[in-house]
Amino acid sequence: MARRIYLDNGATSWPKPPEVYDAVDRWQREVGAPAGRGAYDEALESDRLVGEARRAVAGVLGVANPKSLVFAFNGTDALHLAIQGLIRPGDHVVTTVCEHNSVLRPLRQLVDDRGVAVSHVGCDAQGIVSAADVLAAVGPRTKFVVVTHASNVTGALQPIAEIGEELRRRNILFVVDAAQTAGEIPIELDAWPVDFVAMPGHKGLLGPLGTGLLYVRPGGEERLVSIRTGGTGSESRSTRQPTTMPDKFESGNLNVPGLVGLGAAAKWLTARPRGVAGVREHSVNLVGRLLDGLAGMEKLKVVGPSAAESRVGVVSVQLEGYDPQELAAVLASSYGIECRAGLHCAPLMHRALGTEGAGGTLRLSFGPFTTDDDVDAAVAALREVSAA
Ligand SMILES: Cc1ncc(COP(=O)(O)O)c(C=O)c1O
Repeated sequence: MARRIYLDNGATSWPKPPEVYDAVDRWQREVGAPAGRGAYDEALESDRLVGEARRAVAGVLGVANPKSLVFAFNGTDALHLAIQGLIRPGDHVVTTVCEHNSVLRPLRQLVDDRGVAVSHVGCDAQGIVSAADVLAAVGPRTKFVVVTHASNVTGALQPIAEIGEELRRRNILFVVDAAQTAGEIPIELDAWPVDFVAMPGHKGLLGPLGTGLLYVRPGGEERLVSIRTGGTGSESRSTRQPTTMPDKFESGNLNVPGLVGLGAAAKWLTARPRGVAGVREHSVNLVGRLLDGLAGMEKLKVVGPSAAESRVGVVSVQLEGYDPQELAAVLASSYGIECRAGLHCAPLMHRALGTEGAGGTLRLSFGPFTTDDDVDAAVAALREVSAA
């Protein structure tokens, strides 16, 4: 049996640091109580662990007040908290063709059901949007702009700071989808010109599935209606939702085991040599190695930026004569290489790149535990399949 080569970290990271498994296991076996809801020892321990996780993630993301981070259940859920919470009938939203369906679909539903208008800004042939184009689409009814920090198809990094600085001057809110960058690209959220940043906890932040976060710039909570009202364990006499952070947006029992794992992952990231910057360096090296290895393969086309520094650890390819799904199946069954094929929930991106008709792309995506050997194995496999 071929060894397992996991190159689907863009979907969810694997493996996680061993400390994550240990923390989840300990919580499940020894604690097991809800957070924020009881005064017995185990409930207080859950509370303490969730607070510790919030502080540890805040440390990784450059957030001074951990309460600016709302825990959600995945990246999509965090995006919903922002998008649905901000929008009012008649509003206009600017987004891009590079977005994931977790941005495109909620917006489409708001267009269909609530009279919202949406502009989709295009990109260049490498999948990069121009800040000037995004800003030109902003009009008098624009409530907010929502842009992904890096595409999950091309890996291309987008000019978030340039867009955000001008939006701030114009007093327009900015929502960023950091699904592919949180934990991989060093980000100082408090210093970034953004208002809301949604991210999964289970990709680059290395927590378990079922975790996500929304960063709310201090004061931003007043602009945001809570779409998740209910029990918070606080202010229980009132039938009104608390207005304080993060309770305003965190109703219902939290995914405590997931968050405990996320906290352990954040501590692991912090303790790593050079922290997230070290992860970034590793990812740029892996992408460079892959791009070098694939160069000159006649039947293979690499989608997205040619410079490793312009991407996160995500590389999409097309191989002449192969449907991406078929290629992924061959890589998995014959080489033990696990990666994803298709449209990657980003239909407009493929339309813009001209990759939709061929069934999308095969995507190889890396994490901190991906090795040079894994990359070399992928290059060798693609070379062999392409020569067959
Ligand atoms: C760019 C982007 N946005 C949002 C999401 C949604 O994240 P989640 O799967 O955690 O809901 C993903 C997940 O693949 C993504 O790549």
